[in-house]
Amino acid sequence: MTAQTVIRQVSQHVGQPVKIGCWVHNKRSSGKIQFLQLRDGTGYIQGVVVRSDVPEEVWDAAKSLTQESSLYVTGEIREEPRSQSGYEMTVTGIEIIHLTENYPITPKEHGIDFLMDHRHLWLRAPKQRAILVIRAQIISAIQNYFDENGFTLVDPPILTPSSCEGTTNLFHTKYFDEDAYLTQSGQLYMEAAAMALGKVYSFGPTFRAEKSKTRRHLIEFWMIEPEMAFVDHEESLRVQESFIAYVVQSVLDNCRKELETIGRDITKLEKIVGPFPRITYDDAIKFLNEQGYDIPWGEDFGAPHETAIAEKYETPVFITHYPTKIKAFYMKPDPTNPDVVLCADMIAPEGYGEIIGGSQRIDDPALLEERFTEHELSTEAYQWYLDLRKYGTVPHSGFGLGLERTVAWICGLDHVRETIPFPRMLYRLYP
Ligand code: 4AD
Ligand code: MG
Repeated sequence: MTAQTVIRQVSQHVGQPVKIGCWVHNKRSSGKIQFLQLRDGTGYIQGVVVRSDVPEEVWDAAKSLTQESSLYVTGEIREEPRSQSGYEMTVTGIEIIHLTENYPITPKEHGIDFLMDHRHLWLRAPKQRAILVIRAQIISAIQNYFDENGFTLVDPPILTPSSCEGTTNLFHTKYFDEDAYLTQSGQLYMEAAAMALGKVYSFGPTFRAEKSKTRRHLIEFWMIEPEMAFVDHEESLRVQESFIAYVVQSVLDNCRKELETIGRDITKLEKIVGPFPRITYDDAIKFLNEQGYDIPWGEDFGAPHETAIAEKYETPVFITHYPTKIKAFYMKPDPTNPDVVLCADMIAPEGYGEIIGGSQRIDDPALLEERFTEHELSTEAYQWYLDLRKYGTVPHSGFGLGLERTVAWICGLDHVRETIPFPRMLYRLYP
């Protein structure tokens, strides 16, 4: 019996007959030969059907195949240096599973709304497939980095009774008779976990009912949130540098073909080695004002500001020490100047904006209570969080990396909607 294999492994079957389950990506034919561009998810291969070498019914079956028809193809694998994969199949048999009619996504150009409405099919396009492979590699590299550096994976809850990043973009739901929210960030729970396990990280979906329709915002996105006991702001920045350099290197090592498919300029990624430049919020404001941006001290940066700062560098840049009053309640004030906090946003190069937000956390119980009052947060809802400072409080820091923005940057995509299989965006819940 002919061995069944997948396209990724055809190199192990040169000179042998094999059977492959696949779809027709594309087709070309002359009167005597049909060239089938076949895909099976693991790769692409050309199947060559020669009229004079196959029974009539195999020739007819090949002729009837349409774009995205599914089939089992059998044939012999040959080395073919002129083909992109390096191999070709001389087809001897075709078993049609399903003949597709009128596949909506044709090789011609389609508008973005059409493609988003057909996202469930669009995923089959070579570029979309390549992005998902790179996304999976990034996830795997993230987990390897933390697993190899003494962190324990901890899963914070998705349904929460209170907020972490302000109340303006909370997703509300009912939890039986109580009010509940979809998590915006697992951070507060990760702080509890760090007090139990030392160095921890989480990786999971987070939700923000963002009313902004931008290239960088999703309603549902995935976040990696490390939290580290006995680690200060400075050391946290060093972890972030080595972590990001590791992830980019792992994509360069493992996804060359996919980066090529999407046309990414690899030389830009090869420059991503630490240490990364740092600029304080104060200096960033001065720089922006010199550049003609009319932004006063105390205001948060928008996308154009971040891009203007990032353009000075070829690696990500840290913007540190933001004003206390525009940052989250849990951030530790700088002991030398309590008007600013020990925090940093990591801004990706090439205009991709903030990929990491992080800080040292307040460890002083009295100061944390003060912040609760200022931010009008109910100490009742957060009693458990205050407990962490009451029972053996320690200096600790952590950060959150947005997966989709990271994928957009590494892949060089101009919108986060292509970085996740089924994006949830303002005005889009389908498919
Ligand atoms: O800066 P943020 O809001 O930080 C936090 O949530 C902290 N609690 C994290 C922590 O310290 N554990 O979000 C972190 C990152 C951002 O830098 C960005 O990359 C991403 O999450 N992010 C989004 N990505 C896509 N769509 C959105 N709406 C996003 N909001 C934040
Ligand atoms: Mg942020």
